Amino acid sequence: MSAYEYVDHTYDVVVVGAGGSGLRATLGMAEQGLKTACVTKVFPTRSHTVAAQGGIAASLSNMGPDHWHWHMYDTVKGGDWLGDTDAMEYLTKEAPKAVYELEHYGVPFSRTEEGKIYQRPFGGHTTEFGEGPPVQRTCAAADRTGHAILHTLYGQSLKQKAEFFIEYFALDLIMTEDGQCQGITAWKLDDGTIHRFNAKMVVLATGGYGRAFFSCTSAHTCTGDGGGMVARAGLALQDMEFVQFHPTGIYGAGCLITEGARGEGGYLTNAEGERFMERYAPTYKDLAPRDYVSRSMTMEIREGRGVGAHKDHIFLHLDHLPASALHERLPGISESARIFAGVDVTKEPIPVLPTVHYNMGGIPTNYWGEVLNPTKDDPNAVVPGLMAVGEAGCASVHGANRLGSNSLIDLVVFGRAAAIRAGEVVDAKASNRALNTASVEASIARFDGLRHADGPIPTAELRLEMQKTMQADAAVFRTAKTMKEGVKNMDVIAGKLSDLRVTDRSMIWNSDLMETLELTNLMPNALATINGAAVREESRGAHAHEDFPERDDKKWRKHTIARVDGKKVALSYRPVVTDPLIKPEDGGIDLDHIAPKARTF
Ligand code: FUM
Repeated sequence: MSAYEYVDHTYDVVVVGAGGSGLRATLGMAEQGLKTACVTKVFPTRSHTVAAQGGIAASLSNMGPDHWHWHMYDTVKGGDWLGDTDAMEYLTKEAPKAVYELEHYGVPFSRTEEGKIYQRPFGGHTTEFGEGPPVQRTCAAADRTGHAILHTLYGQSLKQKAEFFIEYFALDLIMTEDGQCQGITAWKLDDGTIHRFNAKMVVLATGGYGRAFFSCTSAHTCTGDGGGMVARAGLALQDMEFVQFHPTGIYGAGCLITEGARGEGGYLTNAEGERFMERYAPTYKDLAPRDYVSRSMTMEIREGRGVGAHKDHIFLHLDHLPASALHERLPGISESARIFAGVDVTKEPIPVLPTVHYNMGGIPTNYWGEVLNPTKDDPNAVVPGLMAVGEAGCASVHGANRLGSNSLIDLVVFGRAAAIRAGEVVDAKASNRALNTASVEASIARFDGLRHADGPIPTAELRLEMQKTMQADAAVFRTAKTMKEGVKNMDVIAGKLSDLRVTDRSMIWNSDLMETLELTNLMPNALATINGAAVREESRGAHAHEDFPERDDKKWRKHTIARVDGKKVALSYRPVVTDPLIKPEDGGIDLDHIAPKARTF
């Protein structure tokens, strides 16, 4: 029996996380009359989506010809043929609808002269199945698109009477003996109370785990909490070895400079002042996909053509663009460059470096957001009562590498899809099942154990060890040797979780305990990443293996499934979905267009 008293709540749906996908799911669930709670560790409009800059991809054709088939082709090729065909089709086909919905909810998009939604070019987005010029497909609200979307969705969710539990830290999933999810436990940060949320459907919208690395564009809150909860419940993580480096993090600070900067005409140069992307990607140059550009930048630095005193970074030029255009289209990054790099973008280049930005992997789901528990007999088995959306999930639409601006559209398309599906599978009239008390007690015992942890290692010290190892051994370029070392090092680091020391034992605003809980969430994500990477003997998308530089579809066109138990990682594989939802004769894409081929730009 626990020493803690519980505050109980009963809902049809509990959404964990209030970023773009969490809020879109919350809004959609509430719109359908489901009693919906959104539980979030930060104030909704402080969620990491607020930092999304460049825009949201949808084939609206506002700036020239476009088609969802072209968007789908680019997404397939961008993901290096690891994405699931049904999910990629659903994403690209539904994208225009989802963007117009945002417009009608009130998102203040930038406008063309005619008053249409403004769209800019982004890397890897093309026309005519990669045969035509770059397309302007990325809908933007200047360079604060995530900010605009998040505020609008929060307002709309309140209008629909969704209930918010703000500054509550979700601890664990509550699971029945027969494997159904039936709620979460949570700790209320400002008064120290412990809460049990009973729900017919739990939606994990907890974002990525960028903070497993030393240098990332992600907020400090991006600690893979959903992945941690899922791993502790014995469920799977998928394709975790695919970690995206954004080409233009500010050197030293790591803050994002949007790809929209290159979309608006910016370009990269090396120490010789050369626009080197022309050599690596003769057709799309600086607008090749991110994995391509990040590798090219790293090659330049390795070969001694980096800029600066240590020749260890690259310049991004915007100084040739009219100041009025920078002011209108890129005001946010102009400010970031001034504050974090001391640079006036109208006069000087910005020092940049590839920086961890996004996790293609996550909790495996189908295209409705339902969490999968793949088995040998059924790779698509659904976990009843559990969904995952946004960066926490892996549908998998981004395959081995995500295209810029396909993240915001993923958030809203799959947040919306989860709500549509919940409307079908959640019976608002039925009673909630009684909670499995054993599952609750196990969660609270874990919490209490960490609260009183009195080992020799402070949380911040162990976190730094993990971050440095992941940064060094799961980098832009990887070798068998570095990854083997990474596996060994991470095994030792994860083993030290039982030696942690938490100095603050209080229950109210205990940031020491909260960071410790976050570290226990980061760790399984990091373990799955390095272990999955070490055995994938090929190069695909963001996984650039120097000992195996080619993609190997015969052996490796399959999803990695990782189950993490403590520091043990068990790997298995799940087939890539290659069947579309719509047959070509009914308007679907011609499958010849998306058959695997060499990936050049
Ligand atoms: O570069 C950016 O604005 C980031 C966009 C994205 O990750 O989709």
